[in-house]
Amino acid sequence: MPDLAALQPPRLAHRPRILLLHGSLRERSYSRFLMQEAARLLETFGAETRFFDPSGLPLPDDADPGHPKVQELRNLSIWSEGQVWSSPERHGAMTGIMKAQIDWIPLEVGAVRPTQGKTLAVMQVSGGSQSFNAVNQMRVLGRWMRMLTIPNQSSVAKAYEQFDEAGRMQPSPYYDRLVDVMEELMKFTLLTRGVSDYLTSRYSERKEAAEKAAARVAQGAM
Ligand SMILES: Cc1cc2nc3c(=O)[nH]c(=O)nc-3n(C[C@H](O)[C@H](O)[C@H](O)COP(=O)(O)O)c2cc1C
Repeated sequence: MPDLAALQPPRLAHRPRILLLHGSLRERSYSRFLMQEAARLLETFGAETRFFDPSGLPLPDDADPGHPKVQELRNLSIWSEGQVWSSPERHGAMTGIMKAQIDWIPLEVGAVRPTQGKTLAVMQVSGGSQSFNAVNQMRVLGRWMRMLTIPNQSSVAKAYEQFDEAGRMQPSPYYDRLVDVMEELMKFTLLTRGVSDYLTSRYSERKEAAEKAAARVAQGAM
């Protein structure tokens, strides 16, 4: 039976912690600009934001998990209560740079769950006309990482038209949509943070853990 008392989100004093990831190494990267614009909004709404620079991150399994970039990414993910993933669309898909970052984050390490039960907003930029391939894939990835992916999302078509020389987003319906998405992320994060253990607790896994514990006790008794 779900523990209804645990449904009350604790009132936490600290600002909501949001990690923002992006999937490009280009110097003038619109997915990074979009992510930075998102961070400005989140800070305005009262969040604390952090970025991860994917430059120098080894390909998955091409280095030891002790690699400093891998450790930095994992620690940021553990620190976060919510995340934003902003990927370009390349060949109709999220970039390998975006995917490689998620592939380095384990579902769980002992009792630590770097992504599970945390909120997620997905965003993409495209060079072509409106498309949702990358955000759709990131939704699947968010599910795999057991995250609470919010309903709204941002997809900026012809991204090269939407940012000025300094990398600031021009006023447009795309910008308004970004405000909507970040507002929604804040609401979902405030409602769910502090109860991620409760939200991600599964009957089948509790049952398996209880069976293993019983087997250990039985072995000890022999
Ligand atoms: C190899 C390659 C493939 C691309 N494939 C697509 C695509 O499938 N659909 C699309 O709309 N744009 C595509 N683009 C354009 C990128 O989405 C666009 O340049 C985007 O701004 C790149 O993100 P960034 O500015 O963050 O680096 C492609 C670009 C490259 C270099």
